[in-house]
Amino acid sequence: MFDIEHQRPEHAAAIDALLDLSFGPGRYAKTAQRLREGNSAVPELSYVAFMGEGAERRLIGSLTFWPVVIGGVPGLMLGPLAVEPALRGQGVGINMMRRGLADAKELGYKLVILVGDEPYYSKVGFGPVPPGRLTMPGPVDLRRLLFRELDLGAFGHAHGPITKPLPANDVSVHEARAEHG
Ligand SMILES: CC(C)(COP(=O)(O)OP(=O)(O)OC[C@H]1O[C@@H](n2cnc3c(N)ncnc32)[C@H](O)[C@@H]1OP(=O)(O)O)[C@@H](O)C(=O)NCCC(=O)NCCS
Repeated sequence: MFDIEHQRPEHAAAIDALLDLSFGPGRYAKTAQRLREGNSAVPELSYVAFMGEGAERRLIGSLTFWPVVIGGVPGLMLGPLAVEPALRGQGVGINMMRRGLADAKELGYKLVILVGDEPYYSKVGFGPVPPGRLTMPGPVDLRRLLFRELDLGAFGHAHGPITKPLPANDVSVHEARAEHG
C-alpha cells in the first residue's frame, strides 16, 4: 500500500532522483519545461507518494501542477508525473492525479492541460485539444496536448497560446513604471 502527501523541501533530492530516472537528461529540453522555468508549482497541488513503514519507508511517486494561462483561461498544467519503475501499474499515478484534480477543483481551478499519452490520461478524464485551438511555447506533438475541464464549459473560452501567468507583483515592472514617471 502507498500513501499520498504534500511535497516538502526535504523531499527534493528524492524527487529529483526519481524524475532523472523516469525522464532522463532530456527532461529539461521538453517544451512543457518552458512553462515551468521562472514559474512556481502550486504547493497545495504538489504531491509525493510513499510506500513502506519505518526505515523501509521511501518516496515512490511525484506529481506537480503549475499555474498557466490556457488560451486566456487561468488554469493548470499537470506534470511531471513519475512513479518508481518497480512499482508501476499499482495505481499510484492514477491515485495521485485523482487527488490532485479533486484538490484543484476545490481550490477553484477550472481547466487543466498536459502533454502526455492520451490512452493513459484518458483514465482520469483528459482528452485531446482540438487542432487550432491552443499553442504551446515550442514544438509539441499536438496529439499529446490534452485537456480536462474541472468546471463544465471552461474549455469553450480557451483559444490561443498557453503561457505562464503574469507575475502578480512584478517588482521590475513597478520599478520601471516609477522610473519613467
Ligand atoms: C506513466 C506513469 C506515471 C504511470 O504510473 P503508474 O503508477 O504505473 O500508473 P497506474 O498504476 O496509476 O496506472 C496503470 C494503468 O495505466 C496504464 N498505462 C501506464 N502508462 C501508460 C501509457 N503510457 N499509455 C497507456 N496506458 C498506460 C497501465 O497499462 C495500467 O493500465 P490498467 O490499469 O488497465 O492495467 C509511470 O509509468 C511513469 O512514471 N513513467 C515514466 C515517466 C512518464 O512517462 N511519466 C508521464 C509523462 S507524460
